[in-house]
Amino acid sequence: ASEKAELKDRIKRLLKERDAVLVAHYYVDAELQDLAEETGGCVSDSLEMARFGRDHPARTLVVAGVRFMGESAKILSPEKTILMPDLDATCSLDLGCPADDFAAFCDQHPDRTVVVYANTSAAVKARADWMVTSSIGLDIVRHLHAQGKKILWAPDRHLGAYIQKQTGADMLLWQGSCLVHDEFKGVELDLLKLEYPEAKVLVHPESPASVVAQADVVGSTTQLIDAAVKLPATTFIVATDNGILHKMRAAAPGKHFIEAPTAGNSATCKSCAHCPWMAMNGLKNLAEVLETGANEVQVDPEIGRQAKRAIDRMLDFAA
Ligand code: 13P
Ligand code: SF4
Repeated sequence: ASEKAELKDRIKRLLKERDAVLVAHYYVDAELQDLAEETGGCVSDSLEMARFGRDHPARTLVVAGVRFMGESAKILSPEKTILMPDLDATCSLDLGCPADDFAAFCDQHPDRTVVVYANTSAAVKARADWMVTSSIGLDIVRHLHAQGKKILWAPDRHLGAYIQKQTGADMLLWQGSCLVHDEFKGVELDLLKLEYPEAKVLVHPESPASVVAQADVVGSTTQLIDAAVKLPATTFIVATDNGILHKMRAAAPGKHFIEAPTAGNSATCKSCAHCPWMAMNGLKNLAEVLETGANEVQVDPEIGRQAKRAIDRMLDFAA
């Protein structure tokens, strides 16, 4: 048995000893995704990660993902211990939306309902009326628009523009982007589709408009996996982090998945579409934090209480 097998056994034992459960995102290492499923945890999109963590009785949640996912878990379950394999695993959307600048932006537009994407810090969520994930942002903005609300949206400009276009809502957009999805290119995708005319195109809405425009399905990671299973096609072009392919291939065996092209020369860029922060999660640091209890996610309790209102609104809406 390899070092990996030993690590996995150690992690399984430690999860039990600590009364801990592993909650993983589809973009982390395939081995971590499998381990989460094998041990009774979950692998899912950001909405389900939040819900699963909140509802699970374990005393400790180990979040294999990025910082905002760990913070959301802590905000929803302040009484639980939240551990992460690497606390430096952040997100370009979170980095690109500092709380002070964001508060100033909100102050300039007091007439707008503030809707923020999950990929933000606890302090940004604390300033928001609503938090949304990619799986439900469209429905929530449609709901707010129907009530005549004008919206201030942050931070992802592509997701914001997509929702704006679909709903016709009045949305003022913060200009952030995801460094992974921003690299997908419409022109190259167009060319790839000529090679595979029968392929269906699955796109995460953090991608640029030129890519979203060519999608057969636009959705969260879970929604894209569902589409891969349900659509009666055998070939798919996938415009999102390539960590998702592990689950897509397992869920839809026999189907063929092709990574959508990223900037420049897609032929030489085999692994462009992979989030460097998601990649910071591994078996080794997971085992270490379970062993030592290090890397505990902390959120200021007052900020957490304020942020929770925005997250709870979404969860209530989704229920
Ligand atoms: P999902 O909520 O669709 O899983 O997306 C999270 C994310 O970070 C996408 O880049
Ligand atoms: Fe953030 Fe993009 Fe990484 Fe998702 S893939 S965590 S949006 S940087």
